[in-house]
Amino acid sequence: MAHGDTRKDVEEFVKELMAAIQKSTFYGTGHDLTKASVNALEEKLAAVFTQQPDLTIGIVGDEVAFEKEPFYELSRNIRTFIARLQEMKIEKISFAKGVEKKELTDFLGIFVKDPKSARKAETVEEALASRGITNIMIESLGAGSGEQEDQSPEELFGAVKDNFQEGMDYLKSTLDDISNNRAIDIKAARFFISKLISNLLKNKDLLLILTTLKKQDDLTFVHSMNVSILTLAQAESLGIEQSLLSDIGIAALLHDTGKLALEGKILKKGKELNPEEIEKVRSHPADGAKILLETPGLPPLAALAAFEHHLRYDRKGYPTRLYSKQTNLVSMMVTIADVYDAIRNKRHYHEARVPEEVYDEMMKLSGGYLHPVLLEIFFKTIGVYPPGTLVELDTGEVGLVVKESFLDIKRPFVEILYNTKGKKEGAPHIANLMEKKSAPDVYKRTIVRSLAVSEKFEIPEKYRAG
Ligand SMILES: [Fe+2]
Ligand SMILES: [Fe+2]
Repeated sequence: MAHGDTRKDVEEFVKELMAAIQKSTFYGTGHDLTKASVNALEEKLAAVFTQQPDLTIGIVGDEVAFEKEPFYELSRNIRTFIARLQEMKIEKISFAKGVEKKELTDFLGIFVKDPKSARKAETVEEALASRGITNIMIESLGAGSGEQEDQSPEELFGAVKDNFQEGMDYLKSTLDDISNNRAIDIKAARFFISKLISNLLKNKDLLLILTTLKKQDDLTFVHSMNVSILTLAQAESLGIEQSLLSDIGIAALLHDTGKLALEGKILKKGKELNPEEIEKVRSHPADGAKILLETPGLPPLAALAAFEHHLRYDRKGYPTRLYSKQTNLVSMMVTIADVYDAIRNKRHYHEARVPEEVYDEMMKLSGGYLHPVLLEIFFKTIGVYPPGTLVELDTGEVGLVVKESFLDIKRPFVEILYNTKGKKEGAPHIANLMEKKSAPDVYKRTIVRSLAVSEKFEIPEKYRAG
């Protein structure tokens, strides 16, 4: 098929482009090795141009993509190149038929300069224009709508909310696929997860605020999204290599695939389940793993995490028939995120808890249900009062937790919304609860308790999850 061939040609071209940039960076654009690379680039482009008049490659999250479909394997091997494009805020590069050797060489020259100083002096677009390059076009992040740093909190939060909604839509279509015995769309999962990861790396606190404030209407969908975000946040804290995050995110997102399959049947029934139904719920890890194993292209980690996520750290959970001696690290992180999200939200089995109670309950499970060290890292990542929690301070002020503190899990950063008299602050400001008064060891502000959102104390518009 022509399409498949084009993809292959494009992949070859991207590889060659990276090699050419490397060579021109090391040896200069006039060097024979660079010249040879430019010739090769021209050839690869010519192959693509037999099938279409131009070629656009893009950066989606951390992946290089062609026609919105990322090259996962390739992207893994060219991280530095991708990081370089991200640093230069390049989102898309287009090559038009008729591009000349000189243009390709001059284009490589743009990468030779220190990208930081180059960016200050001129944008990539300006650099192209000043070199008279007309057959290569760049689209950079923030072009048109202004630089990314200039985005308002509302815009940033909006982007994160859109991303969350995409995940929900993806899960809905997955449920549809499962119900109709169709294969799960793994490409769509990758596409969504790479965006989620890039949001997590840029706006982790906003994503966490969203997991705290998002209403739990579509129970399993929101839950799966939350578990995915909370697992990825743990993985990031552990310093797990970025190239592995995509598999981890997918595994977490699909951990309850077996439950999705039950969705609408018995889980929405409400309270009491009969013994047969309980048995069905208990078999959701194995059922989910089976579905995921049968899905071509999924990382094996997804089936593994689905299978193991109710196993518990002490392996006294279910399934009882096991095939491995050790539980996978990712499964154990998913378990923590899973239990956390279940306890704090009103699930079928019990009432919602306030963050302090959730923390105490989770700590009771340390070493039994949950891996003790991973649990500690989990709370260092999100804090006892996770971003999005409304809190009352000992000063009488009320605010919203906006960022956790790695130094003390009970002393996050709080946006002060109401003053000591309970009046709305005109210009909310962010207080670091690690801050001390001039006298030693006396903190300026300490959390007294978490508060429910009410008419008296509301969440500012810009953080409303909808
Ligand atoms: Fe589950
Ligand atoms: Fe779950």
